[in-house]
Amino acid sequence: MTSSTASGKIILFGEHAVVYGRPAIAAPVAQVRATATVTDAPAGSGCTLLAQDIGEEVRLADAPADHPLALVLRLALAEAGIVREPDWRIELTSDIPIASGLGSGAAISAALVRAALTHAGQFAPPETVSRLVYRSEELFHGTPSGIDNTVIAYEHPVWFVKGRPPETFAVGQPFLLAIADSGIPSPTKESVGDVRRAWEADPATYESIFHRIADIVHGARRAIRDGNFAAIGLLMNANQQRLQELGVSSPALEKLITAARGAGAAGAKLSGGGRGGNVIALVNLETAEQVQSALLAAGARRVILTRVGDRENHNRR
Ligand code: MEV
Repeated sequence: MTSSTASGKIILFGEHAVVYGRPAIAAPVAQVRATATVTDAPAGSGCTLLAQDIGEEVRLADAPADHPLALVLRLALAEAGIVREPDWRIELTSDIPIASGLGSGAAISAALVRAALTHAGQFAPPETVSRLVYRSEELFHGTPSGIDNTVIAYEHPVWFVKGRPPETFAVGQPFLLAIADSGIPSPTKESVGDVRRAWEADPATYESIFHRIADIVHGARRAIRDGNFAAIGLLMNANQQRLQELGVSSPALEKLITAARGAGAAGAKLSGGGRGGNVIALVNLETAEQVQSALLAAGARRVILTRVGDRENHNRR
């Protein structure tokens, strides 16, 4: 039996603009994880994928070519040089809320690639996991930048520019974020598609917003390196304003953001595709509890706290 896991993720700065070649910063969220467990099945029974959380059971031989999990598994088998379908039963579970902007789809795919390669006696290096998961992201999201599969595969904070090898970045002082799930699905494919249509209709306006976001992301890298808590918060607020201009915020997200700031968060913004999904708020040990309560009172389904920059959180499997 082989069991592998993958973490969730948050985008700290630069979502959407990253699709247009601007930098973005993302971090893993180790508290929420997807797990894939491969067990050998009786000879001749073939390969079955069981995704209990979504009540799905798929026989690999019957799955259509565009089934995202089957696609990832076929790619992993090809990577491992396995040509004949193995007799495996693969169970997939996850405590990452689906469509919440925490990368549930990419994390399930990453856990699956790791478990399949490991069960086949192969290494599953991050660059291979990232490359294979990207293929399923294309099915889920249309034109993904590649940041979700990258941060989940490497499981450390990343400075990401589309098409370039990911870099990590210095964290002068680890910082605490409250992640609030709005409970409203975040349709990343739709929000990315809407931004694309708006950009096509008015490239000058949208390029100028992306340019400003890039400035914010560069500033955030410096603020994070310097451990400048107040500056990180202000830059989160500035990024949120640009995301509003892109049309990817929503009244429910704004309500959570206002509540977090009102309760003492140093900054707050949506994270990921937007419309629904998550809001992140920068807190410290003094404000964490009141910000959490305020977020719940403003309608958050659940709030988790995560620290960015803690060495021990990196590369956990
Ligand atoms: C989704 O987590 C981040 C987006 O920028 C989309 C992408 O980068 O593929 C909205």
